[in-house]
Amino acid sequence: MFPFDSSKKLSFSRYISDGDLLIVYERHDNMKAVKVSESGVLQNRFGVFKHSDWIGKPFGSKVFSNKGGFVYLLAPTAELWTLVLSHRTQILYIADISFIVMYLEIVPGCLVLESGTGSGSLTTSLARAIAPSGHVYTFDFHEQRAASAREDFERTGLSNLVTVGVRDIQGVGFPDEFLGRADSVFLDLPQPWLAIPSASKMLKQDGVLCSFSPCIEQAQKSCETLRSDFTDVRTFEVLLHTYEVREGNLRSWQDNDGGSMSLKSCKKRQRSTKGLENASSLTIMARRNGESRGHTGYLTFARLKCTL
Ligand SMILES: C[S@@+](CC[C@H](N)C(=O)[O-])C[C@H]1O[C@@H](n2cnc3c(N)ncnc32)[C@H](O)[C@@H]1O
Repeated sequence: MFPFDSSKKLSFSRYISDGDLLIVYERHDNMKAVKVSESGVLQNRFGVFKHSDWIGKPFGSKVFSNKGGFVYLLAPTAELWTLVLSHRTQILYIADISFIVMYLEIVPGCLVLESGTGSGSLTTSLARAIAPSGHVYTFDFHEQRAASAREDFERTGLSNLVTVGVRDIQGVGFPDEFLGRADSVFLDLPQPWLAIPSASKMLKQDGVLCSFSPCIEQAQKSCETLRSDFTDVRTFEVLLHTYEVREGNLRSWQDNDGGSMSLKSCKKRQRSTKGLENASSLTIMARRNGESRGHTGYLTFARLKCTL
């Protein structure tokens, strides 16, 4: 279902078929995953939408209800899936995920080990990054969570790229079959330092490990443990701010907000469009959005020391 499905190519050149999974998009904060079926209907506050009207349309289409309301039908990318998946645990979001994929140097063909699987939010992006020839082996000690994650990977068409195992990684470590084979290891566990000795044995020479922890005390314990076998131990916090940007009248925006919002105006643009600005009293304004995500956790990365 995801764009790297070689039989279906990129989302912009794809057409919706019976049985497809898609994301029904109302707004950036209101989306849901729907499986298309010839006889299916979607009902929301905008009216009734017949799935049969969707079949044959390209992904990205705007479709209308019986009352003239509309939604967009989007291809289920890893980014959108993270926003619509069912939360069985705390999950990782796009800012942390993109940083993790980059810093773990994950590319097509990599073998990645992960624990715990949780709701599979990160796993979905790991799978896309290693596709089409790599593999993600993800482990969770909670049987029901592992089973639900497997069902999700079936649904999203990722099951050939991801294997979900039930295992206590803090207690017994990763399976020996992965000794020296992993390009990278990711840990989102309550006591990651217990899993680090095993993770170090799984990594290839020069492989990279990342551990996510919500509290700095956990990160500090992981750093201590990492220093014996790893080098370049670094901890990051990724903070994401979103902005509302528009051109308008500074005074009217302040008035609308009761003057309480902090505004950033673009001085360079103001200078370069001075004539226009004087004529229209318009300026470019950016306001930090209240939805901005603050602290999620600390990401500790480390590279296995080369012993050759
Ligand atoms: C916060 S969730 C992971 C969320 C995941 N990163 C995501 O983005 O959806 C942590 C998971 O670790 C699992 N877990 C906790 N201790 C574990 C252990 N000793 N071995 C394996 N999994 C464990 C929990 O069952 C839980 O599902």
